[in-house]
Amino acid sequence: MEVRVASKAGFCYGVKRAIEMSKDTVRNRPGPVFSLGPLIHNPQVVAYLGKLGVREINNLGEIKEGTLIIRSHGVGPALLNAAQELGLDIVDATCPFVRRTQVVARDLMTKDYQVVIVGDKNHPEVQGIMGWANGKAEVVENPWEAGLVKARGKKIGVLAQTTQHMENFNAVVETLEKTGSVVQACKTICSATSERQKAALELACQVDVMIVVGGADSANTRKLASLCRACGTTTYHIEEAGELDPAWFRGVKAAGLTAGASTPDWIIEEVKKRMSEIEELNGSEEGMKDAVEV
Ligand code: F3S
Repeated sequence: MEVRVASKAGFCYGVKRAIEMSKDTVRNRPGPVFSLGPLIHNPQVVAYLGKLGVREINNLGEIKEGTLIIRSHGVGPALLNAAQELGLDIVDATCPFVRRTQVVARDLMTKDYQVVIVGDKNHPEVQGIMGWANGKAEVVENPWEAGLVKARGKKIGVLAQTTQHMENFNAVVETLEKTGSVVQACKTICSATSERQKAALELACQVDVMIVVGGADSANTRKLASLCRACGTTTYHIEEAGELDPAWFRGVKAAGLTAGASTPDWIIEEVKKRMSEIEELNGSEEGMKDAVEV
């Protein structure tokens, strides 16, 4: 069995940067270090950072001092102010691409646009962007929801959660344009997601089985898995090598491997190594079966 890894897989720039910043913080700053929510959607990496000294909290009320790391998803200004008022040191690991989106939201709101965010309203990135638009943005997930937007005579400024699909964004813009309002479309989508999706899809179409590695809660990993399934290839979403089942690879000539943007290289390498071991195991079982049949 040949194991092929997608040409783009694993950590994106923003996640890598947030992890490096966290490691530097625990090394160089005195006192406790916290992240508000898991630093990334990958339990193995969160556990690793926990061992280094990054403690996860759910709200600012849980702490009185120390350093607060802002995740790559970013947060709204109210939370930053609250952390400053508590006297916490802040290490802002907001991905620069998310930061750009926040600035766009704030600028559109200041210029009296009705801000529309294309994305998932429950995602922390979207909630943070919402804060930069003074909480006055409307969040839509699809063109149907865009049809319900009331601009009340205002110009509309549309931006996207960085992990959105360009097709969905364009369809939302098209729907909003039909309302007769002036629409300014701000393309804030990050290419890391689409590059990983394109590479995963290309590979999935060439192999018999796909393994997608990443946190069960990672939306971008789940999306990769659903894209691979959509092209008809049997696909398994796992978090680590121990979940691989040799039965998945029996009779398989080529297996593909990809990973979400919050999956570190060391987990991808472990999975790849385990797939090769399974290949050897299945190969020797086949050999024994042949010998018995002879
Ligand atoms: Fe940033 Fe794009 Fe990753 S926005 S966090 S580099 S997916």
